[in-house]
Amino acid sequence: MYQCQICTHKIEPFISFGRMPIANGFLMPDQFSEEYFYNLKVGFCPECEMVQLLEFVDREKMFHEQYAFFSSTSSFMARHFGMLAEKVKCSFLAEVRDPFVVEIGSNDGILLENFARQNIRHLGVEPSANVAEAAREKGVKSICAFFDDDIARQIASENGRADAILAANVMCHIPYLHSVAAGIKILLKPGGMFIFEDPYLGDIVEKTAYDQIYDEHAFYFSLKSIHNLFSQYDLEVIHTESYNVHGGSMRFYISHKGIHTPSSSVMTQIDKECIIGLHQHKTYELFRKSVEKSRDQLKRLLLNLKNENRRVVGYAATSKSTTVTNYCGITPDILEYMSDTTPIKQGKYSPGTHIPVRTYEEFKANYPDYALLFGWNHAEEIMAKEKTFCDRNGKWIVYVPKVQIIG
Ligand code: SAH
Ligand code: TMP
Ligand code: ZN
Repeated sequence: MYQCQICTHKIEPFISFGRMPIANGFLMPDQFSEEYFYNLKVGFCPECEMVQLLEFVDREKMFHEQYAFFSSTSSFMARHFGMLAEKVKCSFLAEVRDPFVVEIGSNDGILLENFARQNIRHLGVEPSANVAEAAREKGVKSICAFFDDDIARQIASENGRADAILAANVMCHIPYLHSVAAGIKILLKPGGMFIFEDPYLGDIVEKTAYDQIYDEHAFYFSLKSIHNLFSQYDLEVIHTESYNVHGGSMRFYISHKGIHTPSSSVMTQIDKECIIGLHQHKTYELFRKSVEKSRDQLKRLLLNLKNENRRVVGYAATSKSTTVTNYCGITPDILEYMSDTTPIKQGKYSPGTHIPVRTYEEFKANYPDYALLFGWNHAEEIMAKEKTFCDRNGKWIVYVPKVQIIG
């Protein structure tokens, strides 16, 4: 029996992807024999409506001094965070004297650099030492730590409380969310705003985006599940916004209870979630069926191309690709290599399936017949820069929201 991380109620499991390696655990051949695996399974809590992993990987195995994901590899995301920073400055800092901004999971400083440039007091909390160092090199103040209520107390006593606390694509990474919510309650000024965004459960379900499910993503948030958690800490969701990043994300604005009147977005979103059925187990059973169908279709397509001697390579060695390659059985005899712009991944092999990761230059120098778009969440940015690939008859294979060939 599995217990909910949030409310301890019994969880209803609904999908299992089998044995999985660490999504960002790109490795060298001498490490293959000791590669770590866990069981990737997901369940729904009927009590607090939180969708969550059933087995968790130790955080030190995922976030360390060799963390492979550098946020600034996407210029599109840099623009997205630039706009978030502007919004925070105009809406929440303009009237404050000497404001203070904290970010949880600040990575290489992609968001906080927008505050650092204007000498706005800021602090990033980032446990992966290599990316935190990259942030410091850009002039972004960062401490190397996992955010929790102890760190929140320490930051508040050393700097005072925060006017804005920001977190992007990290809340869903943290299994011990009670300690995080308690930390927010302590660190946030009475009139301050906590703003966070993560891939949204409604999009995952509607688009069959099962590759959002991997070790780092402990939770898959709906507005209801977030409301249920934060209301226990006298914190309140006062506004939500949807964004077309990372395959569909939801931004939540949270303040101390009773300070702001919630906007109409909150009720509208709660109603939408009811219509999609995010509160019902049967929705997740249907999701599982769609996932299995998608897997079978992708596998069949790739095997057909192999039989026709077509060259197929993976485009972007994303963390999401680890779920797809392992779950669908995509091995090096099917996929020649994966190209990625991140130096720390290049020359290594993909987790579990051991497909070589090569440079982007290699892709450009010798275009394949087909590129399997593992970075589908960056499709707009990628397709815009790969016009030559298409002009030379190259085709894209995508699998979200459905398996298809484009081009
Ligand atoms: N905010 C960035 C990075 C997201 S990746 C962006 O949106 O692009 C998630 C980041 O959160 C990683 O850099 C990871 O090291 C960090 N992280 C993981 N657990 C954390 C925790 N408990 N507290 C703070 N940061 C954490
Ligand atoms: P993400 O989906 O977790 O954001 O990971 C993005 C990965 O994709 C990262 O390793 C960098 C890589 N990438 C490319 O190789 N080319 C690109 O054009 C983009 C946008 C990303
Ligand atoms: Zn629960």
